[in-house]
Amino acid sequence: MSVKQLDSLDKIVSLSKARGFIFQSSEIYGGLSAVYDYGPLGVELKRNIRDAWWKAMTQTHDNIVGVDAAIFMHPKVWEASGHVEGFNDPMIDDKQSKKRYRADMLIEQHIQKLRDKGKSDKADELQQKLDTTGTRKGLCEDLYDIIMEEEIKAPESGAFDWTEVRQFNLMFKTHYGATSKDDDDAIYLRPETAQGIFVNYKNVLDTARVQIPFGIAQVGKAFRNEVVARQFVFRMREFEQMEMQYFVQPGEDEKSYEEWLNTRLEWFKSLGIREENLRVAPHPDDKLAHYARAAADIQFNFPIGWQEVEGIHNRTDFDLSRHQEYSGKKMEYFDQKEQKRYIPYVVETSIGLDRCTLMALCDAYREEEVDGDSRTVLKLHPKLAPTKVGIFPLVKKPELKELAFKIEKNLKEDFTVLYDESGSIGKRYRRQDEAGTPFCITVDFDGLEDNTVTIRYRDDMEQERVSVDKLDTVIRNRMKSWKSE
Ligand code: GAP
Repeated sequence: MSVKQLDSLDKIVSLSKARGFIFQSSEIYGGLSAVYDYGPLGVELKRNIRDAWWKAMTQTHDNIVGVDAAIFMHPKVWEASGHVEGFNDPMIDDKQSKKRYRADMLIEQHIQKLRDKGKSDKADELQQKLDTTGTRKGLCEDLYDIIMEEEIKAPESGAFDWTEVRQFNLMFKTHYGATSKDDDDAIYLRPETAQGIFVNYKNVLDTARVQIPFGIAQVGKAFRNEVVARQFVFRMREFEQMEMQYFVQPGEDEKSYEEWLNTRLEWFKSLGIREENLRVAPHPDDKLAHYARAAADIQFNFPIGWQEVEGIHNRTDFDLSRHQEYSGKKMEYFDQKEQKRYIPYVVETSIGLDRCTLMALCDAYREEEVDGDSRTVLKLHPKLAPTKVGIFPLVKKPELKELAFKIEKNLKEDFTVLYDESGSIGKRYRRQDEAGTPFCITVDFDGLEDNTVTIRYRDDMEQERVSVDKLDTVIRNRMKSWKSE
């Protein structure tokens, strides 16, 4: 059997549309860029990932509780968090095509071109220059100077006719209340779910009987007016985050940061993501977000290269201190054991649910040639598979359908199942391979005699005869012992 791994994101985009995983938003109107809708299979896959995360973070930890904060928050929250001032991308416009680009990304692409041409000394020199512009006040001017000196042209029009570089805030602004018009009533769609946790830290402390160290987890939508947003659900303007803030005693933060980095990496493996497609990339000090003392990404090897799926951040007491300052409410914790008061430090784990869904699809995708026949198959971990069991009568005969319906009814209690009687058995298997369904059951005439059926396994296409009464156990055992290959 020859196996081909995924070599282009376009294949996932096509499969997603063809099989009902992910569609472009408002497609009948031409679509809305960087916004996507999940179809029947996608919604199940995404929900399975969300449930796996929630279980891993809250149900299996005695000291982590959940919240579900609103998307709209008091505008002061975003002043306190630093997002109003600091959540910007440096943008430059091509005057000829009117297209807007991220200035630092244009330079990165230029550096890559230099490398491709073998000019690595020049590329290194420029990379160093770019890296040291990172956090300085004159960032826009510095980036503009590099673009001018290097005579970097606009990728699409080829023109060298740029505006100045300007900071562009990524938060979506809207107005709150029917009568409001002016900027005084401006309110933001949250760009991260984390702040909903920080503003509820006191409420949780007062009600949930938690003691430090403890965590608060949340899953919810976030919105960013991303400028470069062309990579399917990898970078969206409306997306979902799964975040957890872990509150620790100052001084315990570094140890906790290392522990969470490991714990989170193991979670990816528990979803069946292949180890060779995962790596940890620490952020260099001069590239840290405004709130972080240390940060690392868990990256996945997408067809577009190694990219972040999750960020682990040591946020220190930055957020709680700022909320104390801006709200005037005390954020201190009294530590009974230590008999002292302090503002806790925070280790954050922050993962994008959509990006994680894309990762699962990319990791699972294979094209296989089997005895001259080809198939596309999603070798998803069975616990993530949108449909667990396909049930087929061999032919459309009432007696076979009756037994198939009976099996469907029994298995439905515990698994997502799909009944399918159309097309040849081979075609039905292929459809379920593309949907990632790990088990398919075929009901034939022999089964009417001896109460057995054929179960076919997605990954190796092996088949075996199983008694109808044992189906539940066989499926459960296979799900438990499943390993990625
Ligand atoms: N609270 C910290 C925070 O938001 P981040 O690194 O900006 O950190 C965390 O985002 C995760 O959210 C990323 O690792 C990514 O998976 C996801 N994410 C961020 N921006 C995204 C976007 N535009 N589209 C899809 N996912 C995104």
